[in-house]
Amino acid sequence: MSAFMMSITPGIPSSSSSSSSSSSPSHIVTSSPPPTSLPVRTIPGAYGLPLLGPISDRLDYFWFQGPETFFKKRTDKYKSTVFRTNVPPSFPLFLGVNPNVVAVLDCKSFSYLFDMDVVEKKNCLVGDFMPSVKFTGDLRTCAYLDTSEPQHAQIKSFAMDILKQSSKIWVTELTANLSTFWDTIDADVAKDGKASYLIPLQKSFFNFLTKCLVGADASNSPKIAESGYAMLDRWLALQLLPTVKIGVLQPLEEIFLHSFAYPSFLVSGDYKKVYQFIEEYGKEVVNRGQTEFGLSKEEAIHNLLFVLGFNAFGGFSVFLPSLVSAIASDTTGLQQRLVKEVRENAGSTLSFESVKDLQLVQSVVYETLRLNPPVPLQFARARKDFQLSSHDSAFEIKKGELLCGFQTQVMRDGKIFDDPETFKPDRFLENKELQNYLYWSNGPQTGSPSASNKQCPGKDTVTLTACLFVAYTFQRYDSITGTSSSITAVEKAKQEAA
Ligand code: HEM
Repeated sequence: MSAFMMSITPGIPSSSSSSSSSSSPSHIVTSSPPPTSLPVRTIPGAYGLPLLGPISDRLDYFWFQGPETFFKKRTDKYKSTVFRTNVPPSFPLFLGVNPNVVAVLDCKSFSYLFDMDVVEKKNCLVGDFMPSVKFTGDLRTCAYLDTSEPQHAQIKSFAMDILKQSSKIWVTELTANLSTFWDTIDADVAKDGKASYLIPLQKSFFNFLTKCLVGADASNSPKIAESGYAMLDRWLALQLLPTVKIGVLQPLEEIFLHSFAYPSFLVSGDYKKVYQFIEEYGKEVVNRGQTEFGLSKEEAIHNLLFVLGFNAFGGFSVFLPSLVSAIASDTTGLQQRLVKEVRENAGSTLSFESVKDLQLVQSVVYETLRLNPPVPLQFARARKDFQLSSHDSAFEIKKGELLCGFQTQVMRDGKIFDDPETFKPDRFLENKELQNYLYWSNGPQTGSPSASNKQCPGKDTVTLTACLFVAYTFQRYDSITGTSSSITAVEKAKQEAA
């Protein structure tokens, strides 16, 4: 398996050589072009009749099939992991939006999305549709900028600096907020026999991320401390609604949630409050953005708000429930193994260093990100004509075409991952090379986010934070039982951490 893997994506460095390397994931494909021995195939699939094709695909995507079946059925139909299709939003009210994409659904073709020599990422974070810039202070924030735009390097460097500076307080702030979080869960379980944990988790992570990323204590403003998380939830929802399947009774979801973009004024009051909070209490970080990275004060604040609210808060709000669910619903004895590893190896005071030794914890975190990538769709537009390869064929891509990768399917690529549909806690423990194919951060887990690529700068911080979350939990409990939204039982640790 491993020799095969290295040969299918020749540009991907092995995990041992790449983790310390500064080479960007943008070279994954081009540093060593794929062999052209693969047969060149016309891209299968079609966009259908104008208006009718897009609306029929939209109804399949949101209603009759759902995203997973939508992509899987077409893969089977065309016998190809690369094909043409439409993705929503589209007709009737998204008239300026072009729903035509080339889907890339295996690990090899998906990796072209990271190659900044052949693709660009201008305004295509969520597809051809882009939420109004009025949601972000009339600015295009970092995630919408292409690497060819000078502001991208400025803001990306600012984001990386924020993470570096905050690393000094990251673990202390995290554990303090996790303590509050689990106290709430303990109290609710004792009182009601179960605890819905999504709101307590969001509140704790809002406080924690605000302190670490913005340098501001939410408790300075009672309104922000109480409902800052809900303000961000509303702001995120309005931007993303046209692109996400919610699961509301149909056809109501199609009519009310997917037919038009909601106007930003509905959340402009919330946005303004968070903005003013950052302006008042995050002065030091905002100043650094101005003096060290050449941003205007407004650019620094709007981008800081986006990193806090969209990237970090939004990302953890999706990721952590799937992590809790994977662990709390396990019946194979995984929790006892995690308890053992954490108590034997993490030490009594958790740190980034101490969780790096927790191989099983790390593997569970990676496996959760593989099966439930928090940002399931990634897009990029061809910068020029080029040839793209799947495992078995090559395809001609024309300049301007939009590539669409659905990670949920890509991360189940049977040519890379054995028994791909199964959650295997030891998968990444047994085969470290698989990190080269773990793409949740818009790049491989062995890649290095930089100003010249579009990989998430939080790549390592996010996985370490998740490891700390698991380690903290199993220092405190012998077991937890629950789902992706509630905890139904907790058993406090009988044996204290070493
Ligand atoms: C679980 C948490 C997180 C997830 C799942 C996540 C995921 C992602 C993904 C998939 C992208 C690429 C989007 C695309 O271009 O298609 C991205 C970009 C980005 N993320 Fe994260 N992220 C998380 C946390 C963070 C954190 C903590 C930060 C704090 C600095 C951050 C900052 C950014 C920025 C600034 C970008 C844009 C990068 C660029 O334009 O080059 N993210 N993130």
